[in-house]
Amino acid sequence: MDLKLNNKVAIVLAASKGLGKAIATALSAEGAKVIIGSRNETELNKTAAEIQQLTGNEVIAIPVDVTDIEQIKTFIQKAADAFGRIDILVNNAGGPPFDKFENFDDDAWQQAFDLNLRSVARASRLALPYLQKSGSGRIINLISVSVKSVLAGSVLSTTMRMGVVGMAKMMSDEFAPYNITVNNVAPGTMLTDRITKTVPKGADIEENLKKRAENIPLRRIGKPEESAAVVTFLASEQAAYITGATIPVDGGASRAIY
Ligand SMILES: NC(=O)c1ccc[n+]([C@@H]2O[C@H](COP(=O)([O-])OP(=O)(O)OC[C@H]3O[C@@H](n4cnc5c(N)ncnc54)[C@H](OP(=O)(O)O)[C@@H]3O)[C@@H](O)[C@H]2O)c1
Repeated sequence: MDLKLNNKVAIVLAASKGLGKAIATALSAEGAKVIIGSRNETELNKTAAEIQQLTGNEVIAIPVDVTDIEQIKTFIQKAADAFGRIDILVNNAGGPPFDKFENFDDDAWQQAFDLNLRSVARASRLALPYLQKSGSGRIINLISVSVKSVLAGSVLSTTMRMGVVGMAKMMSDEFAPYNITVNNVAPGTMLTDRITKTVPKGADIEENLKKRAENIPLRRIGKPEESAAVVTFLASEQAAYITGATIPVDGGASRAIY
């Protein structure tokens, strides 16, 4: 299937590694010109060069901390100037810490809000004029399947992601006249550094992940490319009639019927 991304320009936030990198790679492999952003400039440049080498399509690295309004403003301006347009915005960021509700203070709540909710509002607002001009704009938010089924210790993440679900639904309604679609992709457990870091100190990583996979109907941890494939489809012309949706990519892990 030709996803018709050849003349499209895509921004992928938080893309030096993990899910963001997999998404940037998949979009680039489909022909899109991609602009990636995250904080560590050295890592970001390395990733951009790696993807460009792999796909043969131009990838631009622009450092940004998505929690900083001035940096996001500069990032979106530079991204728009890079190829003269923005068609696709993938909102992604690092994840907040896991713990029980009682262990999070006000600062932790503020940081999670800035990282996983306000960043989505800001980047979307700043990219909106360009997406309106695109004629078939796309906003795709990386959230978590914790919006569908309880995930222990994920109170900060779940709260902010539920906010993103509401925001995306409102945006999908308001942006429909511009032919902009807005959707969320909700990964379960995908093999990235974020997941390997949750393995308790001293435990065998492979054994721990194998044990975790036993609770997943498909009996394995997901690959970042499997989230990226769904994002890439949502970015395509073929997905033009899907908007306001939240799509789990979780091997069947969420136990809700919906
Ligand atoms: N992996 C999973 O199983 C899974 C499941 C559900 C949801 N998620 C969510 O998906 C998102 C990505 O997860 P991941 O597993 O890919 O994480 P990861 O492997 O830790 O990668 C995180 C990426 O985000 C960047 N980043 C972090 N803070 C940033 C900031 N303030 N501004 C800009 N970039 C920032 C990092 O680069 P720098 O540090 O250089 O900025 C890095 O490129 C997270 O929100 C996570 O909670 C992941």
